[in-house]
Amino acid sequence: MAYATLAKELRRLIRLNLSEKRTAHISASEDYANRLCVKHRLPYEPVMIGVLAHDLFREWPVEYLRRVALRSGIARNPYLEREPILYHGIIAGLFLKRWRGNLGFLSDIVEAVTYHTTGYPFRCYIGKILFLADSLEETRDYPGVKRLRKLAERDYENGFNEVLEHKIGYYVRKKYLLLPETVAAWNSAVTGEVWKV
Ligand SMILES: [Fe+2]
Ligand SMILES: [Fe+2]
Repeated sequence: MAYATLAKELRRLIRLNLSEKRTAHISASEDYANRLCVKHRLPYEPVMIGVLAHDLFREWPVEYLRRVALRSGIARNPYLEREPILYHGIIAGLFLKRWRGNLGFLSDIVEAVTYHTTGYPFRCYIGKILFLADSLEETRDYPGVKRLRKLAERDYENGFNEVLEHKIGYYVRKKYLLLPETVAAWNSAVTGEVWKV
């Protein structure tokens, strides 16, 4: 019930904050996340909250995102200062944290939403499934996406590692910075151990 109440509120906010194109991405991410959860027998409802919330602030002007994050007590950090659009995940995480209803898995959903772009050494399935759904939903079209979908559908943990590798390769080719959470996610993926950010 708590999930349904929050989902209803998030759908209202999606209508107010997001373009048609982004709404289509959310809806395709819902379908894909649901498909993965069914396939791997994982509870879908907490993932659904993550999917509905993850890009809620993606279309806010970056300067506004940055100001809200700093005003909410997020420490200034050199990575986000260079790429302030990344604040959209953090703000979505802060928004969910303030939700007053009693929600199972809340801290795992917040973690999933906060790091949905960069990756993170997620220990809970929610972060991995959201990361996969965001990257592999059916409107996504880039070289290798079909292979990655197959891998994620076969084994979501391995699929997560593969999508992470694919993203890191892209960041390196583009000469983007690698964030500490991405590096920690990679280190956990290759060692199977928990790496702190
Ligand atoms: Fe996003
Ligand atoms: Fe997204």
